[in-house]
Amino acid sequence: MYDFDTVLNRRGRGACKFLGIADDVVPMSIADMDFASPPEVQEALRQRADFGNYGYTVMVDEDYQAIIDFVKWRHGVDIPREHLLATPGVLYTMRCAMYMLTQPGDKVVVSLPLHTPSIRTAGMQGRIPLHNWMKRRADGNYTFDLEDLERHFQAGAKVLLMCSPHNPTGRVWTREELEGIAQLAQAYDVTVVVDEVHRDLAYSGHPHLSIGELPGMAERTITVFSASKTFNFGGFHIGTAVVPCEDYKQRLRAKLYEIGHDCGRPPLFSMVAQTTAYQKGHAWLKELIAVLERNADLCIHSLEGLPVKVFRPEASFILWVDCSELKLDTAALNALMQEARLTADPGHYYDMGEIGGYTGPQHHFRLTFGMPQSVLEPAMERLRKCIERRA
Ligand SMILES: Cc1ncc(COP(=O)(O)O)c(C=O)c1O
Repeated sequence: MYDFDTVLNRRGRGACKFLGIADDVVPMSIADMDFASPPEVQEALRQRADFGNYGYTVMVDEDYQAIIDFVKWRHGVDIPREHLLATPGVLYTMRCAMYMLTQPGDKVVVSLPLHTPSIRTAGMQGRIPLHNWMKRRADGNYTFDLEDLERHFQAGAKVLLMCSPHNPTGRVWTREELEGIAQLAQAYDVTVVVDEVHRDLAYSGHPHLSIGELPGMAERTITVFSASKTFNFGGFHIGTAVVPCEDYKQRLRAKLYEIGHDCGRPPLFSMVAQTTAYQKGHAWLKELIAVLERNADLCIHSLEGLPVKVFRPEASFILWVDCSELKLDTAALNALMQEARLTADPGHYYDMGEIGGYTGPQHHFRLTFGMPQSVLEPAMERLRKCIERRA
């Protein structure tokens, strides 16, 4: 019913992903998609633009109800209205929550590998970042290393910044995995601030569960999400936090105010886009997820038989590729991408390690595949050939 095939020319329109990218190169780095947002959203924006008056706006009951109804539809969870905080987006809110919960000198845990801005968050304004490395399960895919996490909690960390579903691995954490973290958080009196920006894009068979929904976790969890990945409007910078603890909610609101954001008074067009998407985007989202699953399969299939290791993502439009066997360092991986005429994020973005050598995730790269099949297929074919030449 919806169009996920048209190739939009995003060049020359301020799209981050396309900045300085040659015409024949396919950007597969920054995590947005090349599809248009739902037509219902486009129409609502056009109508509002036509009105001509763009004065200050405020979210009303209908805007909050749209969030509540959408979350109920997508995740089967009832969020009381009084737990909601309207925010200017996910990173802003993760950082402000951390500032609200900690003082300079306090320790904050993040689990690696992780998307760079989120790693940076843990070390901001004098906080001491503690890195909890994930471990590999028996099948080689990632999971939490709870023993290592416990050591960090024993060392005095009072805040854990989580990413769920996980960027860059595409894992959707299971109930058991989340329960392991929840038990430790309760035992060591840790507050969890969780980035759930990819949650609406969980694939079939991998239902997303919020850690804040587990017994005993509501009052010690701040859940942060947005419609920006879901409906592909990252440029609108708008989002939501679920904060059941009233004290936390008031203090987080105050922190956001300190940086100049008045919760519930978002930019006009961001508010129109968010409310419309939440009210009318259901059918589009269902189709999008099917398209993303098909694209994930296409990527996996393209890399079959090569000396690289990939796991089918369980959510979103990101693919984490392990090239250890090829012994390609960051420079060699960049040269490979250059030859394949595409861009990808090199592995060291996900531990912020120094470039060089084969430590940490440097022998990995992350691709994004939220694009029409007619663009993705030839790009993956080029990548396949370039890897074959090095195998
Ligand atoms: C895990 C994660 N968190 C946050 C963001 C950015 O969210 P926002 O633009 O709402 O700050 C991204 C975007 O790539 C992301 O992947």
